[in-house]
Amino acid sequence: MRPLVFAANWKMHLGPGEARDYLATFRHAYAPVAGRQVWFFPPAVSLEAVAAGLEHRADLLAGAQDIHWEPKGAFTGAISGPLATQAGARATLIGHSERRHVFGETDEQTGKKVGAALRSELLPVLCVGETLAQREAGETGTVVTRQLEAALGTLATESLDKVTIAYEPVWAIGTGKNATPKDAALVHAEIRAWLKGRNASATRILYGGSVNLKNARELLAEAELDGVLVGGASLDPAGWAELVRTAAA
Ligand code: PGA
Repeated sequence: MRPLVFAANWKMHLGPGEARDYLATFRHAYAPVAGRQVWFFPPAVSLEAVAAGLEHRADLLAGAQDIHWEPKGAFTGAISGPLATQAGARATLIGHSERRHVFGETDEQTGKKVGAALRSELLPVLCVGETLAQREAGETGTVVTRQLEAALGTLATESLDKVTIAYEPVWAIGTGKNATPKDAALVHAEIRAWLKGRNASATRILYGGSVNLKNARELLAEAELDGVLVGGASLDPAGWAELVRTAAA
């Protein structure tokens, strides 16, 4: 059994002081549940505060929202895998749709970042997903497969098993529109088939896009979903604790 992962993507919210307060509230509100892990992706400036705030609980983990593919150098504004690790990260998001669509990140760059993450012993969380226009044109499968091939196509099975994939349809992120559990499960099954073709069985597949306290349980009732990646609904520590506690049986 793959443990369920509840990943909180804070995006550009919660500085170090706020992160400390958040973790104190969350730890108090949420006791470990067997088979459930909670991953936090704060802004880079808050990574150390979050990592310290986990207080070595084995069910909690801190991660970066993005890394550069080079380990160091003249890349103003960027952080590398080794720097994120030093700040306490054990995972990193890669290719989030905001990185792709707001910052112009390419498929090729996501591939380089996955390699860099693995070299730094960070668990890569690769985000994939189609835009509304691509969905309406019936291109969801083609787009997702292209993103998987570009980022993970050259990995050996052993590395692929360390990867987590987050299927996040772009039209569902921050919009209040989420894919139906069946829509999500269909794409998850395609991703699972792609992984099976490469003999990877431990890779987790999360769903993301307007997941909240109301819809999380219904989404996680689909066996294809190994967890959720949540933005807006992860920003309040008590609400997030409740979501993680109540979203699965
Ligand atoms: P949302 O964001 O839950 O606010 O839609 C999800 C994400 O972008 O990872």
